[in-house]
Amino acid sequence: MKNKSTTSFEEAYKKDVYLGLTSYPKYLLSKYIYDKDGDKLFQKIMDLPEYYLTECEFNILEQHKAQISETFVSPDGFDLIELGAGDGKKTKILLKYLSDKKAQFKYLPIDISENALQELEASVHKEIPEVDIKIQQGTYLETLERLAEYNSRKKVIMVLGSNIGNLLHKDAIQFLKKIRSAMSPNDMLFMGFDQKKNPQTILNAYNDPQGVTAAFNKNGLMRINRELRGNFNPDNFLHWETYDPETGTARSFLVSTKEQQVTVGDLELEVHFEQWETIHTEISQKYDDHVVNWLAKEAGLKVTEAFSDDKNYYKNYIFRIEGDL
Ligand code: AVJ
Repeated sequence: MKNKSTTSFEEAYKKDVYLGLTSYPKYLLSKYIYDKDGDKLFQKIMDLPEYYLTECEFNILEQHKAQISETFVSPDGFDLIELGAGDGKKTKILLKYLSDKKAQFKYLPIDISENALQELEASVHKEIPEVDIKIQQGTYLETLERLAEYNSRKKVIMVLGSNIGNLLHKDAIQFLKKIRSAMSPNDMLFMGFDQKKNPQTILNAYNDPQGVTAAFNKNGLMRINRELRGNFNPDNFLHWETYDPETGTARSFLVSTKEQQVTVGDLELEVHFEQWETIHTEISQKYDDHVVNWLAKEAGLKVTEAFSDDKNYYKNYIFRIEGDL
């Protein structure tokens, strides 16, 4: 089972890298940034003073944990299913509160990183031993297929960190539709969305002076070097961030600072870069209520509650199903 999924992951990875590097303009899918090194760099990003998202969501959960938990609980208990759980630092606020209140629930964190999951499990056992936790490794897609199996009691599906922001609106709607199709009438979706704000604040969050975000994006190249026998020189690329306040889309690029040739051995691929040619590496979409309501409607969901920080930098929304698909 494990072997099979590893193989198909590798196959998909190779195919996606090949497609991205042979397209014009070039791109790499951001989900592949997160290997062991990528996880570490993202942890460092979350600690940057410029990267306000983590602290905002942490504060929202801390401030509103009572109200949020109240919407979760149910007479026969519930399953709390978290997609992209990562290190669970924010989730533990809710886990702690729920277990203090003797709420009956099971915590099912899902992540693409087995490594992150094992650390999460160990830390939950240690810090909140009464929590019933079962970790599951998988991609969002694999996971969503398994989700519908949890239908014996209420389920709360949780996606924190504005992870949806990596998706274009059309893909975000597909993602929400998939979640919607796994939901029963009583189920809920609890999701974080980074909000539109002063464009400079957003640019700064993806452009830290220490270069952690640059290293994070360049890990996409380093992983190709490690796993597909590539020979990218990260020093020949410049990390560049843009933010369009009209669409709310932050975009990350690696720009080739010179004309160069890169080889990816396992793909039998020679990639040519003109000087100043780009690789698009990530989008980080910013939202407002209008767009969130529109996404929900398109996916057969409706927003029933929203929780925000004092500056309205970030919001966590509760969705329930609405209408047919
Ligand atoms: C994990 C996708 C929410 O887009 O803000 C952070 C990833 N990239 N800094 C984001 C990220 C650069 C992050 N998400």
